[in-house]
Amino acid sequence: MLNKKTIILGVTGGIAAYKAADLASKLIQSGASVRVIMTRNAQEFITPLTFEAITSSAVVTDMFQTAAEHRINHIALAEIADAVLIAPATADIMAKLATGIADDMLTTTVLATRAPVILAPSMHTQMYQNPVTQENESRLKARGFYIIPPATGRLASGGYGPGRLPDTEVIIGHLKAVLGRSGDLAGMNIIVTAGGTQEPIDPVRVITNRSSGKMGYAIAEAARDRGARVTLISAPVSIPAPPVVDIIRVETAVQMKEAVQRAVSGADALIMAAAVADFQARDIAENKIKKEKGNLTLELTGTPDILAELNGDFLKIGFAAESQDLLENAQRKLIAKKLDLIVANNITEENSGFGSDTNKVTLIDKNGVVQNLPLLSKREVADRILDQVVRLLNLKKSNNNPAQKNTPA
Ligand code: CTP
Repeated sequence: MLNKKTIILGVTGGIAAYKAADLASKLIQSGASVRVIMTRNAQEFITPLTFEAITSSAVVTDMFQTAAEHRINHIALAEIADAVLIAPATADIMAKLATGIADDMLTTTVLATRAPVILAPSMHTQMYQNPVTQENESRLKARGFYIIPPATGRLASGGYGPGRLPDTEVIIGHLKAVLGRSGDLAGMNIIVTAGGTQEPIDPVRVITNRSSGKMGYAIAEAARDRGARVTLISAPVSIPAPPVVDIIRVETAVQMKEAVQRAVSGADALIMAAAVADFQARDIAENKIKKEKGNLTLELTGTPDILAELNGDFLKIGFAAESQDLLENAQRKLIAKKLDLIVANNITEENSGFGSDTNKVTLIDKNGVVQNLPLLSKREVADRILDQVVRLLNLKKSNNNPAQKNTPA
């Protein structure tokens, strides 16, 4: 989604300025065109040459510019920007922007642009928590600036607290969420489940499955990037949480059911990508089961079928992970669980299904096969599923308003 987008990266003079080089590099790798503006202080921490090498473009600084060059540059950059991202943003730049001071290339560009402006504050904790900085941050938010909350951790200036520049991936997640705000899922409330639930046997052991959560997390990210408000209900996984997504962590099928039940009120779609355990221990041992007991027989009982049991005014999208009779089994689940769409996933295909970064799926709705997709990255599969969510939501809207059915959009 960053492909062909023009990002103006403003770098100000904080100790985290060096991390902006990695940010610029990752943006370029995602296909964005990056133009860097550095403040005078930023150049004390990192040289323009670094950014020139990474972005293959001239870096704009206040040095050696005639008044005419200056005017042309900042207006030109302000106009071509899809977003202006200031990372790191010092207390000083926040103060200037909050009070409308425009005395250098970066501040004048921000004043002249219509593109969204995103700031990633990074400074010493006390400075960040100082009422002046907090007031500036509130003012900036009120004026429509988007603030990426600083990460909490050890700071270069010593001490521990909020003020660290978030990881590059987190900054890019926020940027994508801002760029996607007017996407085809804008205003939609989407609930996604992911990962394999864990059903305890005793205090140390669980019954679980091979789900990595990658498919569900990819759907959550893709929905966020298309403008949706996303709640991700996640069983334990070892992948990072997508930024700008509300995450609810659960362990068991019963906990997942309760979380989904709460989340679906007011939702437009529920996408159940989680591999919910079908069985749970009838009794959970209070203490660790010792091995000297010899053979062990566990009595298992069924878990609630979340998708089948929850109905409401939202689209229901399920997955069918099958090792045989893919389409027949998927179609049967679509009907039995009253789904609007099922993603039939052949888990025996190479590079498809559990743990892999790619997936080969067939999308089926109540009229039959909608799309038979080739092997794609999980992110691409996520977008194809969401294309169907958009189609089904539009269909539902036109069925609810038959008068508008034939009115061109
Ligand atoms: N699912 C659910 N609750 C369960 C089991 C499954 O909500 N207790 C959901 C899954 O998230 C998935 C869909 O139902 O979206 C189908 O899951 P799958 O494991 O393929 O099917 P099951 O219904 O468990 O049937 P079977 O194990 O017999 O294949």
